[in-house]
Amino acid sequence: MRHILLLLVCLLYAGLTPSVADNGPEPIRSGEIWPDNNGVHINAHGGGILYHKGRYYWYGENKCDTTSSAMVGIMCYSSDNLTDWKNEGVALPVTDDEGSDIVRGCVMERPKVIYNGRNRTFVMWFHLELKGKGYSAARAACAVSKSPTGPFRYVGSLRPNAGRLPFDMTDAQKAVLDTLRAENYAEWWTPQWYDAIEKGLFVKRDLPGGQMSRDMQLFVDDDGKAYHIYSSEDNLTLHIAELSDDYLSHTGRYVRLAPAGHNEAPAIFKKDGVYWLITSGCTGWAPNKARMFSAKSIWGPWTSHPSPCRGPKEEITFGGQGTYVLKIHGREDAFIFMADIWRPEKPSDARYIWLPIQFRDGVPFIEWMDSWTLDFFDRR
Ligand code: DGJ
Repeated sequence: MRHILLLLVCLLYAGLTPSVADNGPEPIRSGEIWPDNNGVHINAHGGGILYHKGRYYWYGENKCDTTSSAMVGIMCYSSDNLTDWKNEGVALPVTDDEGSDIVRGCVMERPKVIYNGRNRTFVMWFHLELKGKGYSAARAACAVSKSPTGPFRYVGSLRPNAGRLPFDMTDAQKAVLDTLRAENYAEWWTPQWYDAIEKGLFVKRDLPGGQMSRDMQLFVDDDGKAYHIYSSEDNLTLHIAELSDDYLSHTGRYVRLAPAGHNEAPAIFKKDGVYWLITSGCTGWAPNKARMFSAKSIWGPWTSHPSPCRGPKEEITFGGQGTYVLKIHGREDAFIFMADIWRPEKPSDARYIWLPIQFRDGVPFIEWMDSWTLDFFDRR
């Protein structure tokens, strides 16, 4: 009897003692070391997150200590609560085949993965620069997998939409484009040159081989259509391009956003039928002021807004550069702005910024918080 009583007391005590889980969600501390399940700082930079069947999968660039080039490949981590991350290994490894686009030492940046329900395939696109060619290749690369954690099979790379003009270009605009001659704009950065860029000088230049594609994002709309958004035209203009139904190619339908506006790091989300796009300026690895655009259709017209950032270092996106907006599954209007604090002198030590997106009069803003928990979204 005494034993049973003791057992009951123990059970009661265990029931009253808060377990780790009962302490509520783990805090998110932007800028600090974020250990994975092995206690090692998460190595998934310029990344994006896919929610699939109850788990979040975080894909990003593996960065080593000494170079920003790809020495390992694209990493995958998984989590069911967005704070405890399991290292799932290298989802798309570099190769040692010098004939391959993704040979060790190339540049693989800003990978994003979407799921195609039609053919049950996980489709990854990323920004590829060929080994030894700096940032001149400006290509979009694609890989596929039947499992979210990979291994992904490399499909190939391209410059999108060869031979295609933006579908919204009017006949009058096409007539102007016809008159633009590259030899008249040999000197860059002059007002005349900017004017010609706005009118599509580089679109015309790159028409035969396809449009340049660097910093990029993927977005799947409510109707299942997917879009590839990328810095094109020597990083001067963003392009929003439709992907085919299998998400593996471009349909040729695209529009230009903010021509000659120098936007990188596009991160998009949709709320109440409005598309919001947060971008950065172009200052290499150094942070700059975020920009924001909105539109009622993905094809525009896009309206420019002031930076959404509020708080210390708001004028340089809190020291980071956007990479993705995560919509939390199952919670209404719960979005997280994800950014990278780059450390080019030791790339593996780059840090992450995750902050909740808040809304005032329907317009997003992002307030710096040293520490916050996901139940922030319950308390709004
Ligand atoms: C800024 C881009 O956003 C990064 O992804 C990377 O390409 C660096 N520039 C390289 O300088």
